[in-house]
Amino acid sequence: MMKVTWRSPANLALIKYWGKKENQFPINPSLSFPLLNCLTQTSVEALEKATGDFDLKCYLNNELHLEFTQKIKKYFQIIAEIEPRIKNYHYKVMTQNSFPHGAGIASSASGYSALAGCLGSLFQQSDIKTLSHWARLGSGSACRSFYDEFSIWGESAMNPSWRDEHASSYPMERVHPLFQKMHNLIFLVDTHEKKVSSSEGHALMQSSHFKEARIIQAQLNLKKILSSLEIGDWESFQRIVEEEALTLHGLMLAHEKGYSLTNDKTWGVIHFIRELQKNKKNQICFTLDAGPNVHVLFPQNQSSLKAILHSFAEENKISCIESGWGTGARQL
Ligand code: DP6
Repeated sequence: MMKVTWRSPANLALIKYWGKKENQFPINPSLSFPLLNCLTQTSVEALEKATGDFDLKCYLNNELHLEFTQKIKKYFQIIAEIEPRIKNYHYKVMTQNSFPHGAGIASSASGYSALAGCLGSLFQQSDIKTLSHWARLGSGSACRSFYDEFSIWGESAMNPSWRDEHASSYPMERVHPLFQKMHNLIFLVDTHEKKVSSSEGHALMQSSHFKEARIIQAQLNLKKILSSLEIGDWESFQRIVEEEALTLHGLMLAHEKGYSLTNDKTWGVIHFIRELQKNKKNQICFTLDAGPNVHVLFPQNQSSLKAILHSFAEENKISCIESGWGTGARQL
């Protein structure tokens, strides 16, 4: 019997991956950083088997989880096309999240990156780009969870080493100290399951009238945000990050099969951030994932804003997760 354990973070996209091509390749490049307090820890036990198909059971917080069992078995089958030795074992997968399950925080990035790490360790694959590639085949954004630095995933004329196959790290030497230690409060305005999954949202991008414009916008925003990161320009950083979040939700709304994942509380938090931004000394901005919860971002030197944000959350009965800049996936 072999047993390996990995811990991996969720990541927060500043330039959003939205829409995919074949093989889970993204239609545009994205940029993210690893989150501190949003972690998945996964152990995989592999037991050699004699013949027949492999068996797999997945336990979430020590309880057998049938839906995850099915999903992860399918995922192992996909990776087995690249690494056929996967079929020689039976598996027990034990996973747990540091954030409450169903808290409305996507666990697919932390989950699939931890799983890909475990498969890599079981089958002697330690190249981080390969692990990122394997994670991508589970969930696109998972390929960005391996680096301590900013991660870039998706091709761009700016740099031929940025690939659709896997994410790459972006050197911290090129990032102004203002952006090196980002803080992040997640306002959990609704923790129910989303009515439209990210996968369905990505699929709708194929028929969006705005698809081509979105690709151009993302390429341009990546270029602009990298220059803001380099020179330490908070104002332009804020404009781009918020434009990306609002575009993401605008694309959902403006589709002919349009839908909204936000609610009044989402907009309440955003209006509050807008009020705080009227004081130019407050360096603060928001972003959204494919859901109603609001990620509020501010640099380390603005930590006094934390108290203001917490009291707003308390007054409005919104629970918060305090996060910040974490580290990439690791074997334990
Ligand atoms: C809005 O990676 O969850 O969070 O590849 O279908 O698993 P799949 O989608 P997923 O999409 C994430 C979309 C996003 C933006 C981002 O993380 O870049």
